[in-house]
Formats: sequence, structure tokens, C-alpha cells
Amino acid sequence: MIKKAIFPVGGLGTRFLPATKALPKEMLPVVDKPLIQYAIEEAAAAGIEEFIFVTGRNKTAIEDHFDHSFELEKTLLAKDKTSALDAVRRMIHAPGSVAYVRQQEPAGLGHAVWCARNLVHDEPVAILLADDLILGKSCMAEMVAAYQGGNLIAVMNVPKSDTGSYGIITPGKDDGQLIEVAGLIEKPDPEDAPSTLGVVGRYIIEPGVFSQLDRQERGASNEVQLTDALAHQIGKVPFHGLRFSGERFDCGSKIGFLQANIAIAMTRDDLAAPLAKWVKGRMLSGQVE
Ligand code: UTP
Repeated sequence: MIKKAIFPVGGLGTRFLPATKALPKEMLPVVDKPLIQYAIEEAAAAGIEEFIFVTGRNKTAIEDHFDHSFELEKTLLAKDKTSALDAVRRMIHAPGSVAYVRQQEPAGLGHAVWCARNLVHDEPVAILLADDLILGKSCMAEMVAAYQGGNLIAVMNVPKSDTGSYGIITPGKDDGQLIEVAGLIEKPDPEDAPSTLGVVGRYIIEPGVFSQLDRQERGASNEVQLTDALAHQIGKVPFHGLRFSGERFDCGSKIGFLQANIAIAMTRDDLAAPLAKWVKGRMLSGQVE
């Protein structure tokens, strides 16, 4: 079914400067794993076998992360640090299953996806944005299970005041999990938003979206917007939004990134109790309201 996924990692990550000056945003660790690894694991849980990264300059750390580190592995082996060695080796995928393509300029998410066009043939493909971290059941696995052709996006209810940060859909028929997408606009002001159903960074797109991206039309922020290309396909192919079951964190923002760190730490046996104790202590001491 859906065997390929695109991971656009060509953005500049300006909201995390100076951390992201030389380090890709997607390599920022949430507890002890980089953001991109959560996305790869989510995709693998959905049955994805080919991983296509759309990278940019300063992103070589991502390539190194998913490759062998000979010296590190040899040292861990010599010191009998088996669990650390396992953690390092677990992320190595089958030879030939990971591909990299360079986006020479950060001209938008649509442009990044378009850069992968020659690696995707006449088939639907998944797209995962690593800065949307989703805990719980693999969101992409839920999407693959629900996919019936056409285009499918993950959606969630967002606060009305935040519609300007999301693609927002005009909902059609709604069966509680799958919602027909009758319209889609990028980052509307709350008073212009057709609903509060916002698009989260998970997509399954059909080949027609690439044909639309071929036109390289610039939209909001003078970037080639994936949302615009998807909106163009409305009425031509089926288009649905899926309410996923997991909890999503916007790790492209500082508050979302901090929340994700705390939420994941609270699931770890070695961290939950000492972290909760420390946070409680802070609140009681009046440093946090
Ligand atoms: P964002 O809108 O979060 O932009 O991109 P950004 O550059 O990463 O971060 P800020 O806003 O400057 O802090 C959403 C996703 O699209 C990718 C990003 O890597 C991220 O996964 N993207 C964005 C590209 O791959 N190329 C682009 O030209 C733009």
C-alpha cells in the first residue's frame, strides 16, 4: 500500500535560533531522542519502508544520525555497554531504504515536497513533519488504515484564537473520525476561519498534488504552499481529514517543545517521579503560579 514517506527537513527553524544556527531543528532532542527519530519510528510503525529526506544546507547531522558511527559502536562494544549499543544500532535501516534530496532554497513546504518528485512514482506517498510530535498510537498507521485513495490529512480542533497558525478546513460530511474536506485555507484570521479544524503535519497525497506543485505557484509568505496544492485537488479526487487518537505537540514552538519534553519524561520510569517532585517543589516555592 503506502510504502514511501517524505520527511521535509529543509526549513531554517528560525524560532529556535541560536540553537538551530548549525544544528537542524529536527535534531533537537526530546528527552533523549531527536525529533526526527520519533517521526521515523511513527512511519515505520505504519509499514513505511522507504524514507525520503528533503534536506538543506547544515542538515548533514541527520544523515550521520541514521548511519553507522564506527568509532562509537566499537567503543560501546569494547566497554560492554549493550543497551547503549542497541539504541544506536536500532536506528539503522536496510541499505538503500533511506534517500536524501537537497532543497537548495527554503521556498516553502510545497517546494520541499516537490523536490522529492523524482523519487516518488505514480503512487500515493506519506509526508511527516517531524516538528509535529504525536504521542500515543502511530498517527500515520491510523491514516494508512483509514486511507481510501485521494488525499488524506491529519486534523485536530485548535483554539479559535490560533487559526492563524494552521491550515484550516471547511468540513463536509463527518463520520466522527473521517471528515470530508470541502475547502482548505492557509493560516486564516479567526474571524475568517471556516472552522477550528486545523491541519497537523501528517499527509497522504496522491500524484495529482505533484502535478499541481510543478506549477510552482507562490502563496502565503511568498512560499510554495502544500496546502494550496491540496486545495486545488478538491472536487477532483477524494479529500478527507482524519481525527487521530494521539496527543500532538507543536515542537516548532518553544512552549510545545518544552511540553513534549515534560510529557515524554513523565512516561519514563527513571524520570517521572524525580521530575514531578522537582516541578511540585518549584510551584510550592512560589516561583511558578
Ligand atoms: P516551518 O513552518 O515550521 O518552518 O516548517 P521552519 O523553517 O522549519 O521553522 P521556523 O518557522 O523558521 O522556526 C514546517 C516544516 O516544513 C519544513 C520544515 O523543515 C518543517 O519540517 N520546510 C519548511 C522545508 O522542508 N522547507 C521549507 O522551505 C520550509
